[in-house]
Amino acid sequence: MLSEKLLNHLNAQVNFEIYSSYAYLSMAAYCESLDLSGFANFFKVQCQEELFHAMKFYDYIFQKNGVVVLEQIEKPNSNFENISDVFETGYEHEQLVTSRLYRIADIATEEKEHATISLLNWFINEQVEEENTFNTILKKIKRAENNPAALYMLDDELGARVYVAPTTTNA
Ligand code: FEO
Repeated sequence: MLSEKLLNHLNAQVNFEIYSSYAYLSMAAYCESLDLSGFANFFKVQCQEELFHAMKFYDYIFQKNGVVVLEQIEKPNSNFENISDVFETGYEHEQLVTSRLYRIADIATEEKEHATISLLNWFINEQVEEENTFNTILKKIKRAENNPAALYMLDDELGARVYVAPTTTNA
């Protein structure tokens, strides 16, 4: 049984992961508008990953006899200056996700809610990869600035990203 406090935070995280998905879809649309289909593909895959994250929290809440309450999803930003700005925004967003997860993990730890701590450890480990992915691409973009050929090579590289659907949210 989850405490009301923990349940509220987990529900808020369902909302935030869906918002993350929406924010990345907006970034995909921006990249699409620049004819950078590889960058757009990267964000479309990211959009699907975030929905998976939302569903992982969703399923967990019900497994713990809680109830998911969905809230309104905030309108995502669609005004970006350039491709570098998009990835800076994405990188900052992932750091925000990490800080939110740490906050929930702190509460779960205070409450000695070990199953939730275990779930959050999965997400926290995932965040190391997510932050690193954004930061690495951001560094590559900065090096490719003023070099369209390098930017298009990077676009090709990101076009190869494929979403692999996990078979279960219990993974
Ligand atoms: Fe669901 Fe990118 O964190």
